[in-house]
Amino acid sequence: MTLYLRLLLLSLFCHLFLTKPISAAAATIPLASSLFASNPNKTWSSPDSSFSFGFFPSDPPTFPPSFTAAVAYSGGLPIWSAGPSVDSAGALHFLSSGALRLVDGSNRTVWDSNTAGRGVSSAQIDDSGNLVLRNATAAVWSSFDNPTDTIVPSQNFTVAKVLRSGVYTFKLIENGNLTLLWNDTIVYWNQGLNSSVTSNTPNLTSPSLELQRIGILTISDPKLATAAIVAYSNDYAEAGDILRFLRLESDGNVRIYSSAKGSGTKTEGWAAVTDQCQVFGYCGNMGICSYNDSNPICGCPSLNFEAVDPKDSRKGCKRKMEIEDCPQSVTMLDLDHTRFLTYPPETDSQIFSVSISACILNCLVSNPCDASTALSDGTGMCYYKTPGYLSGYHSPALTSRSFIKVCGPVIPNPPSVVDGAGKKKGWQMKAWIVVLVVVASLLGLMALEGGLWWWFCRNSPSFGALSAQYALLEYASGAPVQFSYKELQRATKGFKEKLGAGGFGAVYKGILANRTVVAVKQLEGIEQGEKQFRMEVATVSSTHHLNLVRLIGFCSEGRHRLLVYEFMKNGSLDDFLFATEEQSGRFLSWENRFKIALGTARGITYLHEECRDCIVHCDIKPENILLDESYNSKVSDFGLAKLVNPKDHRYRTLTSVRGTRGYLAPEWLANLPITSQSDIYSYGMVLLEIVSGRRNFEVSEETDRKKFSIWAYDAFEKGNVMGIIDKRLSGQDVDMDQVIRAIQVTFWCIQEQPSHRPMMGKVVQMLEGITEMGKPPSPRAIIEAPTIEGPVSGTSTSLVAPSSISSFQSSGVLPSTPASNMEKATVSLIQSDLS
Ligand SMILES: *[C@@H]1O[C@H](CO)[C@@H](O)[C@H](O)[C@H]1NC(C)=O
Ligand SMILES: *[C@@H]1O[C@H](CO)[C@@H](O)[C@H](O)[C@H]1NC(C)=O
Ligand SMILES: *[C@@H]1O[C@H](CO)[C@@H](O)[C@H](O)[C@H]1NC(C)=O
Ligand SMILES: *[C@@H]1O[C@H](CO)[C@@H](O)[C@H](O)[C@H]1NC(C)=O
Ligand SMILES: *[C@@H]1O[C@H](CO)[C@@H](O)[C@H](O)[C@H]1NC(C)=O
Ligand SMILES: *[C@@H]1O[C@H](CO)[C@@H](O)[C@H](O)[C@H]1NC(C)=O
Ligand SMILES: *[C@@H]1O[C@H](CO)[C@@H](O)[C@H](O)[C@H]1NC(C)=O
Repeated sequence: MTLYLRLLLLSLFCHLFLTKPISAAAATIPLASSLFASNPNKTWSSPDSSFSFGFFPSDPPTFPPSFTAAVAYSGGLPIWSAGPSVDSAGALHFLSSGALRLVDGSNRTVWDSNTAGRGVSSAQIDDSGNLVLRNATAAVWSSFDNPTDTIVPSQNFTVAKVLRSGVYTFKLIENGNLTLLWNDTIVYWNQGLNSSVTSNTPNLTSPSLELQRIGILTISDPKLATAAIVAYSNDYAEAGDILRFLRLESDGNVRIYSSAKGSGTKTEGWAAVTDQCQVFGYCGNMGICSYNDSNPICGCPSLNFEAVDPKDSRKGCKRKMEIEDCPQSVTMLDLDHTRFLTYPPETDSQIFSVSISACILNCLVSNPCDASTALSDGTGMCYYKTPGYLSGYHSPALTSRSFIKVCGPVIPNPPSVVDGAGKKKGWQMKAWIVVLVVVASLLGLMALEGGLWWWFCRNSPSFGALSAQYALLEYASGAPVQFSYKELQRATKGFKEKLGAGGFGAVYKGILANRTVVAVKQLEGIEQGEKQFRMEVATVSSTHHLNLVRLIGFCSEGRHRLLVYEFMKNGSLDDFLFATEEQSGRFLSWENRFKIALGTARGITYLHEECRDCIVHCDIKPENILLDESYNSKVSDFGLAKLVNPKDHRYRTLTSVRGTRGYLAPEWLANLPITSQSDIYSYGMVLLEIVSGRRNFEVSEETDRKKFSIWAYDAFEKGNVMGIIDKRLSGQDVDMDQVIRAIQVTFWCIQEQPSHRPMMGKVVQMLEGITEMGKPPSPRAIIEAPTIEGPVSGTSTSLVAPSSISSFQSSGVLPSTPASNMEKATVSLIQSDLS
């Protein structure tokens, strides 16, 4: 057998190199001609020999060898193929009936052009690569009209046509949109014409797609004056003997390639789906797509799963124990930073707005539900996935958490349930199982959380390694991703593009392997041990809120300490507030300002009052309030104060040197304990600046040589609101009720006595106008120190008068008592300074 094959290969080899090419220079292929797979050297060529039709060994090579009958560009790149591949005894016949037919070794028809009896008298390959069967007067059939997976220049691709590659298809739809579909049902990519084209043209009638020779992809239509450009190849307009072609690859992506004549190699110039992991089904059913370095890789959700084909990770995964056969309880496996892809037509049918725990439990107890994804992006949306095809995507940059049913870890059932096969007990059993499952899953979640802590506290080198094997713990809730220093160096192109310099170090723009844009902060002056650093990182990264900048991951390697954050398109608030007229293409409407003020207050409320470990920010200022593309504010740099070496005074001096003194609460300067109320003072100052557009500590003639914040109170007293408000807002749409509320809130927040200031949650309500507030007392008013009755925060009591709770109560407005968690939240930094 092997001997036979060897002989066969040898004979092929001889054919290739020893026989003279019988290149059919004649442009026309006569009836009753044949090509044989055993002689791949004989082909039918186009007049200028740039294209040829013949047998090509399959790529990648198979064993035993197989061959594809294809039209290929000079060098051997196929652009069209007739049916599937055949064995080495296959042949292609241009029959006298006029049909072109591919047969395999046993003479079975594998493919046929179905042109018998239609008067076909000759065939031809033209110089554009089109294989045409003609009768005496016209073309009866052509390869350009029957594309396989590739389009070349001058090929007309219309609505009726389709490119196929495995389970994927590429189509042009009636309105001129280009689409990619999985299994002819799920549309995972849908790109329309540039809106500047569609807005001033009527609906298209018969769009056609064309790849121009120079490397641009265009759509033309009788309704369009000129062809609209849909895509550019990287090397478009580059001259030379280059063929551009568009191909739907077996990975579900459409790309434009360039190939130099005769080279046989291709270079990618454009890809439809930039993030390969967003191609539905790329990793098969229940497979999870992620990136190793720059390549997408496929893995299974956990060790409850195994690969369908260990040799091909793209074939997907299956449960080691199916849910139907599961003898124990079913649990939900928690996959952090993961989502199950959901595209039309599936998108809207299974989406609900619920809490994360409901997103888990609803799926767990309901049938059919196989998995769920909580978007965790502040929308509270949850997708339920019915059994079918699950396509997972894991990336540190994803906020979403996903849950998939697994036949859980063994939980011993009570004997009554195990033995009680009695039919009467049936429903009781079911109830028991439901209860057990719920309890088990809650226990599981708690265990997970516990495990997480253990995980972070332990100083293990293998911590968080992002491997293709998705161990359960790496997905644990809130787990940040560990990057290597090299990875971040690459992502930031060697720390090239500096975004800014914060109190803790410089921030650089970076792009992760999956093309997510991130901000990488290089921490300075962090002398805490590795363990402490990881603990703080864990706390920060488990703190999720719409108004907090999300920590994606970190790097702790040698002396290097870096944090990786989501990237905020619109930069920081100070750029908008204090930019001079010349710089100000950047201007914030009042509506946006109010949204920012409210969002920031909500973010800080979350830090102070709502999250698991309360966090005092310690450095609230416009520089630390970032804006996304729709002007949602996100507080950054929280949770970092504790990272600074307590014995290092640099942080203090740094902040004052950098001019953020204006935001520091008086107790900070007096070396008193810092509590959440210090943040409220800083917030008040920021709020005033949002209204006024100037620094609160600015001194000028206009402000009678007083600090602006002091002057503003007097102005407000005198009813001079217009003197406070940003001049750039004049003539704009401004809600004066909101402005006055904001100014009043400011003065409540910047009260000199910490205990006079409202809690952050209250601030939100005051801004929203839900809580009435009275006239704020002067921030500087010295209130007679009353008897000590309220809670006292911190170690030093002498100057932090708990006093004025009573004064609020007497004014009947602010019943706020400093919450007890304030003490919990006291930052150790200052206390250790004092001790
Ligand atoms: C050639 O084919 C075209 C299109 O199929 C047809 O309209 C025409 O009548 C045919 N001519 C002859 C001579 O068969
Ligand atoms: C493309 O084909 C359509 C329909 O087959 C035809 O109407 C259109 O004119 C063709 N466009 C070009 C550029 O050949
Ligand atoms: C593809 O769709 C067909 C019906 O449209 C369905 O029967 C088949 O199961 C689907 N394939 C997969 C892998 O889900
Ligand atoms: C066409 O594509 C755009 C996105 O570019 C999308 O918003 C629109 O819904 C698509 N239209 C159709 C009919 O699919
Ligand atoms: C849309 O088209 C206009 C004009 O043709 C062009 O300036 C703009 O860059 C295009 N936008 C995109 C996203 O391609
Ligand atoms: C374009 O199509 C939409 C939806 O089919 C229709 O409502 C609209 O009237 C059409 N516009 C024109 C100019 O034909
Ligand atoms: C990433 O995956 C690709 C494809 O599986 C592999 O060739 C490459 O070596 C991997 N790179 C690293 C750094 O693991």
